[in-house]
Amino acid sequence: MGLPTPNTSHLSNAAYSSVYEPAEDTYLLLDALEQDRTELQALRPLICVEIGSGSGCVSAFLGQVLDPQTSLILSTDINPAATQATRETAQRNLSQSALEQCQTRFVGGMQDSLAGKIDILLFNPPYVVTPSEEIDCTDDASAWAGGICGREVLDRLLPEIGRLMAPKGRFYLVVIEQNKPEEIIDILAKDGLQGECVLSRRAGREHLSILRFIKL
Ligand SMILES: C[S@@+](CC[C@H](N)C(=O)[O-])C[C@H]1O[C@@H](n2cnc3c(N)ncnc32)[C@H](O)[C@@H]1O
Repeated sequence: MGLPTPNTSHLSNAAYSSVYEPAEDTYLLLDALEQDRTELQALRPLICVEIGSGSGCVSAFLGQVLDPQTSLILSTDINPAATQATRETAQRNLSQSALEQCQTRFVGGMQDSLAGKIDILLFNPPYVVTPSEEIDCTDDASAWAGGICGREVLDRLLPEIGRLMAPKGRFYLVVIEQNKPEEIIDILAKDGLQGECVLSRRAGREHLSILRFIKL
């Protein structure tokens, strides 16, 4: 039986003026996790990280997939309102939560302590193609504005992925066509991550995909 989509009804319209509301991209990532559910459980992951958790919908879903006794989920976001929303979503949906929140850029100062330890990494980045000036702004555009090719935020993280992932660790990434998915796969292959597209869906004008990378 399929897992329920986490309940985010506690987040009001006012919350969504500053926090990214779950949308087609969010749900496609949930579908990819659901599709790999058995393998993710078999991996018995110790450390899981979601970068850019927004409402907390994806982190809470992963919390439903995994055993809270053995898996820690760390959710980060640059937006303090998103960190708060993720906390509330975890409380609402997970009876026994091993979900920690941290307001930081990517994995912040935890880069060294997490090196080689992340078993599952999730990122639905700001991927929309925009002028460079729109990324890193303080308003809600930082949730979706991705700069040139929609890659400017992601490209800052890519060089760190190989070092962060544990052997056999899995990285799930949301992309659109304009992000040049094949190029991302080639970049991470050089750091020992085997990537492929595991799910695609058209949503309005966007052609969304989930790339899954496995650290060899
Ligand atoms: C497209 S939204 C995805 C939100 C949520 N994960 C979902 O799937 O609905 C991108 C999120 O990444 C956050 N973000 C943007 N740049 C970031 C960075 N450098 N480090 C951490 N979070 C970031 C934004 O604040 C936003 O919450």
